[in-house]
This record gives sequence, structure tokens and C-alpha cells, in this order.
Amino acid sequence: MCGIIGYIGKKNALPILLDGLRQLEYRGYDSAGICLAKDASLKIVKRSGKIKDLINAIKNRKDLGQANLGIGHSRWATHGAPTNINAHPHTDCSNGIAVVHNGIIENFVEIKERLIREGHKFTSETDSEVIAHLIEEYYTGDLEKAVLKAIKYLKGSFAIGIVSSNEPDKLIAARKESPLVVGVGKDENFIASDIPAILRYTKKVIYVDDGEIVVLKKDSIKVLDSNGKVIKKRVDTIKWNISSAQKSGFTHFMLKEIHEQPRVLSQIISSRIKGSSAIELDGINLSGAAIKRISNIIILACGTAYHAGLVGKYLIERFTKIPVAVDVSSEFRYRKPIIRKNTVVIAISQSGETADTLAAVKEAKSRGATVISICNVVGSSLARVSDGILYTYAGPEIGVASTKAYTAQLAMLYLLSFYIAEKKGLLRKRVKRFLIKEFKSLPEILQEILKKKEGIKKLAGKHLNFGSFLYLGRNLNFPTALEGALKLKEISYIPAEGYPAGEMKHGPIALIDEYRAVVCIAPDSAIYEKMVSNIQEICARMGKVIIVATEGDKEIRRFTGEIIYVPKTDELFSPIVSVVPLQLLAYYIAVKKCCDVDQPRNLAKSVTVE
Ligand code: F6R
Repeated sequence: MCGIIGYIGKKNALPILLDGLRQLEYRGYDSAGICLAKDASLKIVKRSGKIKDLINAIKNRKDLGQANLGIGHSRWATHGAPTNINAHPHTDCSNGIAVVHNGIIENFVEIKERLIREGHKFTSETDSEVIAHLIEEYYTGDLEKAVLKAIKYLKGSFAIGIVSSNEPDKLIAARKESPLVVGVGKDENFIASDIPAILRYTKKVIYVDDGEIVVLKKDSIKVLDSNGKVIKKRVDTIKWNISSAQKSGFTHFMLKEIHEQPRVLSQIISSRIKGSSAIELDGINLSGAAIKRISNIIILACGTAYHAGLVGKYLIERFTKIPVAVDVSSEFRYRKPIIRKNTVVIAISQSGETADTLAAVKEAKSRGATVISICNVVGSSLARVSDGILYTYAGPEIGVASTKAYTAQLAMLYLLSFYIAEKKGLLRKRVKRFLIKEFKSLPEILQEILKKKEGIKKLAGKHLNFGSFLYLGRNLNFPTALEGALKLKEISYIPAEGYPAGEMKHGPIALIDEYRAVVCIAPDSAIYEKMVSNIQEICARMGKVIIVATEGDKEIRRFTGEIIYVPKTDELFSPIVSVVPLQLLAYYIAVKKCCDVDQPRNLAKSVTVE
């Protein structure tokens, strides 16, 4: 949800800002802009559309020249349509202060009305513009002081970058509930919403915390708390490199990330399973005694991560006998949730910046819950507010549709349920050895499935013109049905619904006719026969079925020739195995429909607004 970038140093800022914006474009891509601070004036270019439209606009601006200080923004519109005027940066009345903002200023109407009364002139419909005018209001020759004062009045969330033509040796940034990192360079420093935007230039970063303000010069970084007191911050070193955030020969990030899944699982296995079967989840931060005391678990997440949570419920209840409720984060917090003395909340989030999940976690914590997070982004807001953190270490996920983060979240939920069960004395050694052996075979199985991509591509070609899809699964694979449907709808815009197959007769069966494509997830399992009965019911009503089945299942061929076979595994692990063909199916349908797979309309990675 919007990306911000800022540079101060000796180099020409413009290419660095544009490069950073390309890396941040996944966060929002309906408009973009830059501001260069040069010769005591600010030069701004803003355009609706993608970064390439901004670059084209810049080509026509011969006056820009070279500047060593600048800020940039890629937008996902909240307040005001994606127009040139509403694009960031926004300025004060004199065009002397420019601001880029990620987040939402909840009290902007009130501030705007006050500032208008005091004579300020606004040009855009955005909430963000008030920040520039508020700083102008308090500016008496010291930008730092003006920012400190202005942000005290802002309610909501923000990561902001600020430059002033009066102080061209300074870049100021501030954060509250929106991600912000500082890149530490030699004779140059950076700010960004996310690490890939600056990784080409430095691996040294400072994670900015809520309420902090950063004053960057080319050769110094000063971090202040909200009272203006200087604080000392740790400088972290990023362990991955820029190639992890590039397409590496794949046509889309999504396809690359689908292909990364075997590697991600191997990495989870090698880092979390020691020797033949010892599970290491140190980050959980709960003693054996505390685990034994857990009365109930509430899983909180949004979107794809919520689907992972639904699988987690099956696993945790089955192995640990602890009751689990799974809640969509945005619903949980407004329902006056019941948290007991020994309730543990598991928050799942790829980005760790999803506003709904952060708000739900804060609500749970305020009611006394212990929060453990499963998260991909190291140092994210979620990681920092949690009592325990289990990182998935899947590497940056850039494609807006989540793929590798999902299977990594599932993998962590398997390990977590085995781990808790073991601590409670509920997992027999022999069973554990079997489970871990099966778990370790998953990377190879996923590799086998990826080899089937040409067949899945052909299948996609045959199903492009269906007006809608129904995805059906049962038990552990009901969430797989939800996830398959979500992947399809978000990148191809074809309406798709996921349903528990047993519920079909209670309504959705009315949808079935020869124009309806129905994807049935029917791997070998204890409820296989039930799933077959459902498939029979669909075929009797002329529905066009595509089936995900286990290799060797010849019986299933009597229903259709459209079968995606997946290698045999214990049914417990079928959610990981069955989802990969569905990711590929959605991908190829979207590609064949010429959709923008990595940046689907209206969406953004990292939903930092509620
Ligand atoms: C769908 C997708 C979204 C996210 C959701 C939560 O492909 O990516 O549904 O899963 O916005 O995001 P995180 O996991 O970052 O909290």
C-alpha cells in the first residue's frame, strides 16, 4: 500500500529514486512521483499510471538536471482518485516542503479545515497533503522541530519522507504503524518502505520504530524519539541479495515464486529440523510449562494467510488437542473477543505489515493474550509486537498473489503443531519419525509437480472462457479450495468461489451447468469416497470438472480427462501438495487472458490500511 523512497548523498538522486520505485511498485501502482531538492528549489514530477509512465514524463523534463537529495512515491489510492494531482509528493503552499506518505491520516478532514481557516491552499483530495501544510504551519527555520511538532497532531498511520528547499542538506523521515527502513551507506543514506528498494546500494539497515523520527544527512543519521530525544539504534545487516528480489529469467515474479517453493521448504527443513527429527522452534519463546498451560489458540490472519490458518486449525487440534479458532483479523478486533488467561494467539502474515492483523494483535495483547507470529519479513511491525516469532525465511515475495509464503506458512504450522504436541507428551516417537520423514519428502514432491506445468498450461488454455469457477475440497483441503479460488480471482478477474464439497448440496449446486468449471481437490484420503460422490453429482449436472488427484488413481478417470495428478503423500500433507497445481492453473489462465499477473488491478502487496 504505497511505497516511499528517499536518497541523500553525493550521487545523482534521480536514477536511485526510480530504481527504488521499480522495486517498490508491488506496493501500489496506480500513480507515482518524485521530488528533487536542487538549488534551493524543489522539482517535482508526478504521473498517474505505472512507474514507466513517470519515467516517460521525466524524459520530457529537461530542467531536472542533477540533484543529490530526493524523495519518491508509488501510490495505491485511498483518498482521491489516481490522478496526476493526487499523486505524491505533496507540497505546502509555497512549494518549499515536499512530503511522500504511506498510510492513512485518519483526522485529515479536521486538520485540513483548521489549516484552510488559517489560509492554507490545498490542491489535492488526499489525506497526505495535510502533512506538508502542517509542517509549513510550524516551520520557523528548523525543519526538524517543525516535523516533531506536526506529527504530534497526526492520527492514523504513516511512514513519511520530507525534504525542504530551505534545508537542502537534510532528509527527514518519521514512522507510525507503516513500515520504514533506513539504509546506511558511505557518504550517502536512504529511506525506504522495504529493503529491496535500497539493497543494490547497501546491506546495512536500521529498522525505524513507531514514534521515531530520523534526520539523515549525507554523512550522518540521527534518530529521535517522539519527544525529540536522540536514541541509539542497532544497525542490522541484510543476509540476502538483490537477485532474490529479481525475476531471474522468469516472465513474472509469481512464476518465479511458485518455482521457489521446493527450495523454501528445503530451507525450512534444514533450519528447523536437526538430526533425524528434532524440531527447533526457539523463536516461539514459550517454555514447556507454558505450552502445557495453553487453554486455547486463536489464529488471526487475512487473505491467503487466513487460509493457511484454517489448515493450521486442523493440524493443531488433531495433534495437540488444544481448541483452535481461526479469525479474519478485520473481524476479530470489532467483536469484543474472549481471551482467557492462557490463550495463545498465532498471527500469520507474509509482510508483517498488514494493518488489520496488526490491529487485531494489539487488541488481543491488550486483553492479555500471548502472541506468536508466523511471518516472512524480518524486523516487520508484526515481528516486533509479538511475544514469539517464527520466521518463514521464504525470501522476498514480490508477486502480489501470495504463493511461496503460503506453503512456507503451512510448513511452519505443521512443525508448530508437532512441536506443541511433543511438548505436551502427545506425539509418540514412532509417529513423529514417520511425520518428519514425510515432511522431508515434500520439496522433491513439489519439484515433481512443477514438471507438470506444460500440462497445466494446456488445461488453462481450455478453460479460459468459463465465466466462473467453483473450487471444492473437504477437510484439510477445504482451505485449499478457498486458496485456489482466491488465486484465480485475484489475478485473472474470473469470479471464483471456494466451498467445502459437502456444502454443495446446500446451495452452490444450483450453479452447476455445462458453463461452470468446477475444480475438485480429491487426493487419496479417508474421505476420498465422499469427494467422489460430490464429483459424481457435478458430472450428473453437466459441470466441467478439473480434478486434482493422487497418481495411480485410475478410477477418477471415468469422470473427466482433465486430471492433474500429484505424487502420493500422506493425506495430512496434501494441502501443500495440492495447492501448487492450483497456483499454476491460476497463473496460466491469467497469462493467457493477458492480465497483469504480478500487479493485478486494485490490489497491492502489504495492505497497510484498515
Ligand atoms: C492473496 C494475498 C493476500 C494476502 C493478505 C495478507 O494472494 O496475497 O490475500 O495474503 O493481504 O497479507 P499478509 O500475509 O502480508 O498479512
